[in-house]
Amino acid sequence: MVIKELPWNNRGQKNNTCKKGKKNITEVSHIQQQNDSEGLVVDEIVKMERRIFPKHESMASSFFQELNKLNCGLLYALCPTGESTQSSANNNTVAGYVMYSWPSCLLGSINKLAVRESCRRQGYGEALLKTAIEKCKTRNIQRLSLHVDPLRVDAVSLYKKLGFRIDTLIHSYYSQDRDAYRMFLDFY
Ligand SMILES: CC(C)(COP(=O)(O)OP(=O)(O)OC[C@H]1O[C@@H](n2cnc3c(N)ncnc32)[C@H](O)[C@@H]1OP(=O)(O)O)[C@@H](O)C(=O)NCCC(=O)NCCS
Repeated sequence: MVIKELPWNNRGQKNNTCKKGKKNITEVSHIQQQNDSEGLVVDEIVKMERRIFPKHESMASSFFQELNKLNCGLLYALCPTGESTQSSANNNTVAGYVMYSWPSCLLGSINKLAVRESCRRQGYGEALLKTAIEKCKTRNIQRLSLHVDPLRVDAVSLYKKLGFRIDTLIHSYYSQDRDAYRMFLDFY
């Protein structure tokens, strides 16, 4: 199981571990062209984003713009060849991704987290989220927050497992009939 990482400043490779195995985490630099290898990875992520999330929740149409913001990072995990579908990066397939940002020096945000359907329950989501948390810690961020539909029980469970607590329920956050928990993780 291989996990790579794609935030925007190139800082080399890292490992993250969870009970389901070790993941290699790699940061890549700013995407220069959409058809370079990093751009192809993001293309694949955008396709996943479009497939996994309903339109009103999807960032697919603004993914590249979001990523090119200075205070935004993207981590991604790779499935080894043969474990999933055809590859787009180094003969691997993107298994999952997490987008995070730090709108202020004190506050960070998990904007998106998703794992390919065929790769779920193998530890990718946990490893990605753990790595994003570590990244935010190194920036001296004091609070990490996120929004999640309470009906996404798998995601809520993962967030709670890694220490997030429910702050409040926001009615009609995603759409008229879809609410969100605001959750937070304090580092200090
Ligand atoms: C939420 C999601 C990212 C989890 O990814 P994953 O790789 O399957 O999760 P992991 O294998 O790392 O599991 C870690 C923890 O997540 C929770 N979890 C994952 N799948 C779960 C499920 N089907 N039911 C309940 N809890 C679940 C558990 O707490 C699990 O810990 P455990 O193995 O000790 O029980 C994945 O289900 C997903 O992409 N869902 C759709 C998109 C989404 O809802 N994103 C969040 C939007 S805010």
